[in-house]
Amino acid sequence: MKILIVGSGGREHALSWKISQSPVVDILYAAPGNAGIGQVANCVDLEVQNLPELADFAQQQQIDLTVVGPEAPLAAGIVDAFTNRGLNIYGPTAAAAQLEASKSFTNQLLHRHGISDIRFEVFDEPKPAKAYVRRQGAPIVVKADGLAAGKGVKVAATIQEAEAHIDRCLVEGAYGTSGSKVIVEEFLAGQECSIKVFTDGQTVVPMVPSQDYKRIGDGDTGDNTGGMGCYSPVPAVSEETFDYIVNRKIRPTVEAMAEEGSPYVGTLYAGCILTEKGPELLEYNCRFGDPETQVVLPRLDSDLVEILQATVEGRLAEVDVHWRDERCVCVVVASGGYPAKYEKGKAINGLDEADAQDGVVVFHAGTARQDGQFITDGGRVLGVTALGNSFRDARDRAYKAVELIDFDKMYHRTDIALRAVEAEDR
Ligand code: GLY
Repeated sequence: MKILIVGSGGREHALSWKISQSPVVDILYAAPGNAGIGQVANCVDLEVQNLPELADFAQQQQIDLTVVGPEAPLAAGIVDAFTNRGLNIYGPTAAAAQLEASKSFTNQLLHRHGISDIRFEVFDEPKPAKAYVRRQGAPIVVKADGLAAGKGVKVAATIQEAEAHIDRCLVEGAYGTSGSKVIVEEFLAGQECSIKVFTDGQTVVPMVPSQDYKRIGDGDTGDNTGGMGCYSPVPAVSEETFDYIVNRKIRPTVEAMAEEGSPYVGTLYAGCILTEKGPELLEYNCRFGDPETQVVLPRLDSDLVEILQATVEGRLAEVDVHWRDERCVCVVVASGGYPAKYEKGKAINGLDEADAQDGVVVFHAGTARQDGQFITDGGRVLGVTALGNSFRDARDRAYKAVELIDFDKMYHRTDIALRAVEAEDR
């Protein structure tokens, strides 16, 4: 088979790494890929938003299956563009991708079908939005309706913070059309986790749960990032909680999408929160998580290509999906300064030594190659990932591998998966 992966981050390296292990794969392409992905795939210089050229490439190369990493091309209709040309592609249509691309669409769907009763209102004018915030009080959550690269959601501790975010979206236009509507939503407190599923629109096959660390600093301090590390499984997610989220939230959502004429096919990512009153859905994403894919796929014992193909062909019910019992920990290594200003082009040393450690795989998120040397090329640079028989084991392996890596102004958190080790020790 010939497979094309669309994207260039750590998630896409993890997808390429797993897909390249499949016995049915002859050639793997990645557009645009990165230097790490280039070790297992042929990188093609095409940007993820360039839908016509991506489809031209898939047609010319007779690609059997395209797998899409990021949300932007999905929301822009890459699946529609490919299927219109008779090309096989894994992911939701633009209509189904609204589950991530429009928060008002999702909240309204979930309420219409009795899947969620979280309090919320949608506004396109600042005055009534602010009046609602004042009536509800803080803490409160204000979300830009559309895609905003993870920056559109504000958990406001005060009414002033909520009002400022309303202004950012509706008055200043900081998120363009993505912020032309805001959702003001009830605040929920608790530990967050995510559960992703494969679905062909009917059958739902859950993946193992994971938890990521969104803040830049140890102890969950500082600015929000794309994710500074993660682990799987999640001790805080009991079997009962897992079943509740899959059967009472995710399956009914997949059924609701089919009932409303937009069957959801692909990976559905449920961002959840474990509140005192029980688990709740915070959001859906229409794709694999990043960096969560880096800890989920190493635990997958089955052939990923077989699962993806069966999903696209509507026969997911025929596939047996098996997971390893091992724990997995990923520590993200970033450029100093991220998520604000940072420098690129720093030589990265120690990658081979780190990769050679027992149970370790180093996924590249933002790297390039210059004169045969790997260099930094992004804010998040690497996802140093390790499997182990316990969280302590997996965590020790991941951090030992991180210590072998070196580049100028390298930064990482030091507390990834510590709470999982503590939970396992209890
Ligand atoms: N790590 C969060 C996400 O992939 O959206």
